[in-house]
Amino acid sequence: MAGKIMHAVQYDSYDGGAAALKHVEVPVPTPKKDEVLLKLEAASINPVDWKIQKGMLRPLLPTKFPFIPTTDVGGEVVEVGSNVKSFKAGDKVVAMLNTLVGQILFICLIFATSLLHFGPWFKPVSEGPAQSLHSFSMDVVIVPCSLPMNGGGLAEYAVANESLTVPRPAEVSAAEGAGLVIAGLTALQAFVNPAEVKLDGTGPRKNILVTAASGGVGHYAVQLAKLCNTHVTATCGARNIDFVKSLGADEVLDYKTPEGAALKSPSGQKYDAVIHCTTGIPWSTFEPNLSSSGKVVDITPGVNAMWTFAVKKLTFSKKQLVPLLLIPKKENLELIVGLVKEGKLKTVVDSRFPLSKAEDAWSKSIDGHATGKIVVEP
Ligand SMILES: NC(=O)c1ccc[n+]([C@@H]2O[C@H](COP(=O)([O-])OP(=O)(O)OC[C@H]3O[C@@H](n4cnc5c(N)ncnc54)[C@H](OP(=O)(O)O)[C@@H]3O)[C@@H](O)[C@H]2O)c1
Repeated sequence: MAGKIMHAVQYDSYDGGAAALKHVEVPVPTPKKDEVLLKLEAASINPVDWKIQKGMLRPLLPTKFPFIPTTDVGGEVVEVGSNVKSFKAGDKVVAMLNTLVGQILFICLIFATSLLHFGPWFKPVSEGPAQSLHSFSMDVVIVPCSLPMNGGGLAEYAVANESLTVPRPAEVSAAEGAGLVIAGLTALQAFVNPAEVKLDGTGPRKNILVTAASGGVGHYAVQLAKLCNTHVTATCGARNIDFVKSLGADEVLDYKTPEGAALKSPSGQKYDAVIHCTTGIPWSTFEPNLSSSGKVVDITPGVNAMWTFAVKKLTFSKKQLVPLLLIPKKENLELIVGLVKEGKLKTVVDSRFPLSKAEDAWSKSIDGHATGKIVVEP
């Protein structure tokens, strides 16, 4: 493909939102030895994509401008690097466009300064196969992990590292696969580990609350919770109550009502775990709704959440706040793609946009009212 030109959408600096996305013609990238070149069929947008554009991960991301955003893709392999053994041209795949050029030490900038005083809480994350995820400790402030360094999803072609590329069975469409990557992996990591439940449903029956259950992460979290044989309470807007029930939630609260704002289970359940997929809910609202050793797994922890995390640790509280940072693993991506293939998990597509209208997809994600996943198709 050397010398071939493709259509891509990129931005040249921080900020500017959808209006700053530019349609360009750029060379098709060349795969390095551990990479595959993909002809993209779908890319999904995550809030982190426009947060990166806003500079919220500055100075780590983007690594350079211009930057072609998004990491979650489904496509077909058209070329493989010299070291790639598990894929060949013509293979359909799902991938996260994320270089693993060495494991880098990601410092949680939000709170590292404060927590440096609490040395005992700095523990390396456990490594190992997929099942070790279940024992992964979230008592982690500094973790060795990979970050989405490359992006590249808003384009006709992109290179993906073999280590975060998985086969896509015929039963899984490119859009379903692209939707799964960050959102599905986050839901899985939030669930199976801190919530101490088992995907085969053999674990103890727990009471779970999923906030923002209609969103990208939340809609996978509800489905995974049901696979784990839990009782699920969920929050969403009024227009999505039937949708969230259809995903399996046992009871649903409209977050704009007083009952929804208080997070009170209509049947009086106390939550063993909360998969918290929105922001702006203080610990004082969660606390009275938790069981005696209930945990709030916060996937967007701000300063207040990190403070609560530290205080609960320091005071040996049984009720804990667990900040979560996704650590993408190939085996976990294989696992959730497999669940979609088996019909146990589904990607709900909120909306599809052609690459020529990528800015509309970007705006829709920034608006924050997607039901499921927003997908861009070249
Ligand atoms: N830690 C990590 O590694 C990680 C990984 C993935 C995502 N995240 C973060 O997790 C957050 C959620 O991501 P996402 O992809 O699920 O977002 P999303 O798809 O954009 O979420 C949109 C949905 O959230 C609902 N919602 C908004 N505020 C709500 C509230 N107060 N209560 C109940 N529902 C509410 C909206 O419903 P309405 O339209 O009715 O308002 C909408 O359906 C983002 O901040 C993202 O950056 C973190």
